[in-house]
Amino acid sequence: MKNIGNEEETGTITRRAVLQGGAFVAGAAALGRIGWATAKSQDSIPQVRLGNGVMMPMLGFGTYSLRGDVCRESVTDAIAAGYRLIDTAKVYENEEAVGAGIQKSGMDRKSLFVTSKIWVDDSGHEPAKRAFQTTLDKLQLEYLDLYLIHRPRGDVNGSWRAMEELNAAGKIRAIGVSNFDPAQMASLTAGAKTKPAINQVETHPFFQETAERASLRAAGVQMEAWAPFAEGRNGLFTNPVLEKIATKHGKSVAQVVLRWHHQRGVIAIPRSSNPQHRRENLAIFNFALDAGDMRAIAALDENRTQFPEWS
Ligand SMILES: NC(=O)c1ccc[n+]([C@@H]2O[C@H](COP(=O)([O-])OP(=O)(O)OC[C@H]3O[C@@H](n4cnc5c(N)ncnc54)[C@H](OP(=O)(O)O)[C@@H]3O)[C@@H](O)[C@H]2O)c1
Repeated sequence: MKNIGNEEETGTITRRAVLQGGAFVAGAAALGRIGWATAKSQDSIPQVRLGNGVMMPMLGFGTYSLRGDVCRESVTDAIAAGYRLIDTAKVYENEEAVGAGIQKSGMDRKSLFVTSKIWVDDSGHEPAKRAFQTTLDKLQLEYLDLYLIHRPRGDVNGSWRAMEELNAAGKIRAIGVSNFDPAQMASLTAGAKTKPAINQVETHPFFQETAERASLRAAGVQMEAWAPFAEGRNGLFTNPVLEKIATKHGKSVAQVVLRWHHQRGVIAIPRSSNPQHRRENLAIFNFALDAGDMRAIAALDENRTQFPEWS
């Protein structure tokens, strides 16, 4: 059977597996303890098994910069459209609206996968515990599926101990980090009981983080993309290479980019305030990029952030 994807995927994901929605276990040798799962969520979004065994959808809904009524309605509609993974953070100042959107959706809590993040000003053991409870209260939830240290600043070891305790107490199903480089990850894990399940980092066709991805994969830590579209910066949605691939498959540039993330084994959480875009962004499991497509996208890597103001 012909293999697809870039060289790292070749031999681990078959065309049939990808066309079936990426539902494929590549085996312990290739992926360590993480891998695509054979089970699909009810809405056909493939799930990945995290290092601690928790299943997580590979495509979700981002909520950065969505506020108030727009945020609440967007979250409710996203769930109605089929999203189950919802990504928020204390610093987005929208946890109440996200919680209201979840409530309004009427969706069974167990069918959802809710992520939030601890901000820098809450770092440390006791502050992290208080921040977590505030986040839960705002979201009107009893537990979180995933809680991340948003940025590697402050007393991250104290925060991590608090998160390990909350994880052990059943208040958080999986714990992880965001924006950690390999050295920061090594420093955190050196004294930790629990390995991060996730590192959520900026990655998109212009910043592919190839070495970071390989390092996370070797460590059994799942990579998650923030700004999977680079927020449209650098002309992403009108990039001629992406447009050509999109035309070839009868898909949009957004779908090609999300499909590329998926075939790299990276979880993506695109944000949209547009209901049509939200649905378009879910429709990526009925086509596959071939090796030539993946090579052409690989060549777009500028290996630099599109968000220098956040570094
Ligand atoms: N951990 C971190 O430090 C961190 C940092 C940043 C973001 N995040 C998370 O990652 C999520 C995603 O990143 P992001 O929100 O910064 O940016 P993004 O998802 O890369 O891009 C969002 C932009 O793409 C547009 N868009 C979405 N779907 C489209 C489509 N099908 N066609 C054309 N345009 C489309 C949206 O416009 P419309 O609204 O018009 O569709 C919006 O302007 C965030 O929402 C947040 O949850 C985490």
